[in-house]
Amino acid sequence: MTAFGKLVRSTAFRLTLVYLVVFALYAAALLAYFALNTGRLITEQITETVDTEIAGLAEQYTIGGLRQLILIVENRALRPGSSLYLVTAPTGQSLAGNVGSLAPGVIDKSGWSETVYRRLEEQDAAEHYALVRVVQLTGGFRLLVGRDLDERSRIGAIITTAARGSIALVVVLGLAGGFFVTRRVLRRFDAMTATTQRIMAGDLAERLPVTGTGDELDRLATNLNDMLERIEALMRGLKEVSDNIAHDLKTPLTRLRNRSEAALRTAKTEGEYRGALESMLDESDGLIRTFDALLMIARAESGQARDNMVEFDAADIVHGVGELYEPVAEEKGLTLRVEAGGPAKIRGNRELLSQALANLTDNAIKYAAPVDGLAEGAPGEIVLSVRPERSRVRIVVADRGPGIPEEERVRAVERFVRLPHGMAQPGSGLGLSLAAAVARLHGGELTLEDNAPGLRVVISLPGIA
Ligand SMILES: Nc1ncnc2c1ncn2[C@@H]1O[C@H](COP(=O)(O)OP(=O)(O)O)[C@@H](O)[C@H]1O
Ligand SMILES: [Mg+2]
Repeated sequence: MTAFGKLVRSTAFRLTLVYLVVFALYAAALLAYFALNTGRLITEQITETVDTEIAGLAEQYTIGGLRQLILIVENRALRPGSSLYLVTAPTGQSLAGNVGSLAPGVIDKSGWSETVYRRLEEQDAAEHYALVRVVQLTGGFRLLVGRDLDERSRIGAIITTAARGSIALVVVLGLAGGFFVTRRVLRRFDAMTATTQRIMAGDLAERLPVTGTGDELDRLATNLNDMLERIEALMRGLKEVSDNIAHDLKTPLTRLRNRSEAALRTAKTEGEYRGALESMLDESDGLIRTFDALLMIARAESGQARDNMVEFDAADIVHGVGELYEPVAEEKGLTLRVEAGGPAKIRGNRELLSQALANLTDNAIKYAAPVDGLAEGAPGEIVLSVRPERSRVRIVVADRGPGIPEEERVRAVERFVRLPHGMAQPGSGLGLSLAAAVARLHGGELTLEDNAPGLRVVISLPGIA
């Protein structure tokens, strides 16, 4: 498309054209109204003048007879810029006045009419128009008085010229303005289009130009830029996650492969094969658990899980998880205590919240147990508590283990992150991520605190009265 074609096809230019037509019509209507009223005013003036003159002349005729009338008419007809006068005899013969010729039949018809005429003294062929009134006098005489209509047509001509000029001006100025405005708008849109094309070509770091005037295009560009920012962040996150997943799943898969290879190479007896298969089964179970955790995080983060939220008492799930993990804790020489004070009503997804709480309790048991079994001092205590606090509900899992140093706390919640001190324990580094995602899903948050000594994980959720 040519530059001109693009200009003409733009919305801005079409809008300009619409405005132009509206303005031109408006100007034309205004002038037409003006012309009509001026014409009417002139006609009114003429009829008034003619009426007064006829009344005066008729009175003279009544008082002084035909002679007197003719005298006055002759007199008036000589004055410069005078009206038209004609007095005729019953035969139709002209007796006095300044009219040379009239349209045929005008003098025979009483009342008002418009006619072409020529003055007596004028010899040129030009015909003029006049508005005349004819009255019948006693004795069959007729009197005609009229005024020239030149003035009216002159004003008409002036108005027509003005109309043509002003409409032409409106069109020229409108088109010029339209081109100017459209070109400016087009240039900005072109810049935006070019940028979006570069972005689509893969450069997600590009941003749309913002002029800083704060107009609607700027607002649009700013919004789109914010959107791009968000998309870029999401893409980055996605890439990180998929990198992590690829990396963290590769290790167990490689182990699985190596074990089967080793078994094939070295195992001789059925017992050895069985042992190899069992360890591979364990490895596969671990993989499945990792996938389950990933899927659950995805479900919590997609917000889909928001659809089946119900109201329940958070103490229920805390008791449930406590009962489930008590034997495991005891086996490791730990005590597990549940503290629930008062009803803590929340609205949420039971399954996900239970899983999050289970992950935290599992962590506490895994990482807080004394390394060398029961021998070292008093057994650590794990406390699961739930407490309504103003408009929120706090669910806390606290242990007396090594805790997490403050500078590691943010990182520990990230996906697949396992800290050095826990490497001996089985795990995939997704437990805290899932708990945090579940907290976010419920409009709450997860924080890691110092339990001096130990770790205190707090899930704070919005409660309901
Ligand atoms: N209660 C805890 N005490 C000490 N360290 C912990 C505790 N909970 C979690 N951590 C640390 O945070 C890391 C991440 O935890 P998590 O996301 O549950 O993954 P995983 O348990 O699979 O390793 C763990 O590897 C561990 O190092
Ligand atoms: Mg864990």
